[in-house]
Amino acid sequence: MPPYLAGRKEEEIEFRRLLRQTTILENLVITGLRGVGKTVLLESLKPIAIQEGWLWVGNDLSESVSISEESVATRILRDMSVITSRITVTRPAPESAGFIETQAKDTLAYPFLRRLYDETPGLVSDKLKYVLEYIWAFLPQLQKKGIIFAYDEAQNMSDQAKKEQFPLSLILEVFQSLQRKNLSYLLVLTGLPTLFPKLVEARTYSERMFHVLFLKRLSEEDTKDAILKPIQDAECPIRFNEKSVNRIVGMSGGYPYFIQFICKEAYDTWLQQIEAGENTIVPAEAIISKLDSDFYAGRWAKVTERQKDLLWIIANLTTSESEFTGNEIAEASRSQLQKPISHSQVNQMLARLSDAGLIFKNRHGKYCFAVPLFGQFIKRTMETAS
Ligand SMILES: Nc1ncnc2c1ncn2[C@@H]1O[C@H](COP(=O)(O)OP(=O)(O)OP(=O)(O)O)[C@@H](O)[C@H]1O
Ligand SMILES: [Mg+2]
Repeated sequence: MPPYLAGRKEEEIEFRRLLRQTTILENLVITGLRGVGKTVLLESLKPIAIQEGWLWVGNDLSESVSISEESVATRILRDMSVITSRITVTRPAPESAGFIETQAKDTLAYPFLRRLYDETPGLVSDKLKYVLEYIWAFLPQLQKKGIIFAYDEAQNMSDQAKKEQFPLSLILEVFQSLQRKNLSYLLVLTGLPTLFPKLVEARTYSERMFHVLFLKRLSEEDTKDAILKPIQDAECPIRFNEKSVNRIVGMSGGYPYFIQFICKEAYDTWLQQIEAGENTIVPAEAIISKLDSDFYAGRWAKVTERQKDLLWIIANLTTSESEFTGNEIAEASRSQLQKPISHSQVNQMLARLSDAGLIFKNRHGKYCFAVPLFGQFIKRTMETAS
């Protein structure tokens, strides 16, 4: 968590609105580019939910968990059991014990939930629904309004028709069914911009089932807060002057990961400069080159030469930081490349770059960079290389 979470007030208001639903009609998707602050926003919603009387269950959906319906179901049962293990149930003691009159106590810990799940007949979705409905009956014991399932990195989940595994559809179907029965299970999914299109592809009703928060870069004012508030403490040996703050605002483009990265580098150098009795400056070039090797280089290394040509064309479009089309790229390549890229090749390459997580197709069918300030990096790197 950052020492100060800048901006994101509107997102908090939206979340609080969703918590006021008595029947859950809207769930939440938090999406945005790499490093824009999805995970920390999700973390910051947790105490709000708890304070409002909800239970919070959550985890990261790593690729290995997302692979099959069974592993997603197990993940949900395990996460659920963290809170349900506090619930006690009484059940008739086994007759062989000879105490037919008495009852044994059990808790809804994982082994219990697992047994319930395994003994329920039907598909994975039937079993999961049964267990979650069963648990719901005990909620009055805990005096809670409902249960939030918060899953980060949810773009990792994919339905795979070839393997007959539909983990994404499973989650959507189970939650929709529970919500229809008026059980307050609220789903909060976080992930890269590929997430929401994936949900809609899996189940068209996802379009209505989710409220989407697309996190953007921070405004200039919020960026300044993100830089200055953590060092406002009087004991802090660092004080940035206005020029330095503006420099960092400009370099970071308001992207939280960059703000944090640049500030850390700046603090470290300033402390050394102060110690050495030198004038303090933000060493912009050195920081950018470190950012290039720490953040971009790994992604860039996986790009083929021809893809680099294509990305160069995109970086030089006037709309590179917003959205662009295959047509625009093919058009520009004709005038800018010795060997232009044909329209159909452009489309194939865009699909591949999208699989690699470098670009994504937005809801209007246009493409965007999935990596913040990617255009600037491409220009820097390719200009130095040539
Ligand atoms: N609103 C904010 N104010 C200040 N710092 C922030 C803010 N949002 C995020 N950060 C900082 O930016 C960095 C990136 O945030 P985070 O990991 O939440 O991004 P993300 O969108 O989840 O990234 P990824 O796509 O890689 O999962 C973190 O170090 C975090 O502390
Ligand atoms: Mg994250």
